[in-house]
Parts: sequence; C-alpha cells; structure tokens
Amino acid sequence: MIVCSCNVLTDHDVRSALNPDGGNARSAGEVHRCLGCSRQCGRCMHTIRKIMNDTGCSAAHAHAHAHVS
Ligand code: FES
Repeated sequence: MIVCSCNVLTDHDVRSALNPDGGNARSAGEVHRCLGCSRQCGRCMHTIRKIMNDTGCSAAHAHAHAHVS
C-alpha cells in the first residue's frame, strides 16, 4: 500500500524506518528523513502516525528485549 504518494513510500517502507535497525524514526518527519526523502504535501502524515501507533507497542517490546538480553 502506498502511504506517501509524493515520495512513493509504502507502509512497508514506513515500518522499516521505525525499526531500530532501519533508522529508528520517532516522528512522522523522521520517517521521511530515514528513508532519504523529505516531506512534501504532508497528506501522508496522518497515515504515518497511525502506522507508528499500530507498531509502537511491538517496537517498544523488541527494544526492551534487546536491552534485557
Ligand atoms: S503524500 Fe507524503 S508528502 Fe505528500
């Protein structure tokens, strides 16, 4: 699914930017930066935030585990 049509970013791209190994983006603006592009029209920001919320929990868990082990 294309999330950002200006930069042709998919939901997969966004998730990988949120991953600690993929840039560890902590805000919607950082997602663009991590993916090597910049925010343009901003229409995708809402969707990116939603993806961040959806993945936020599991990312935090993965991070916690990485620290424990
Ligand atoms: S759709 Fe993402 S900046 Fe335009």
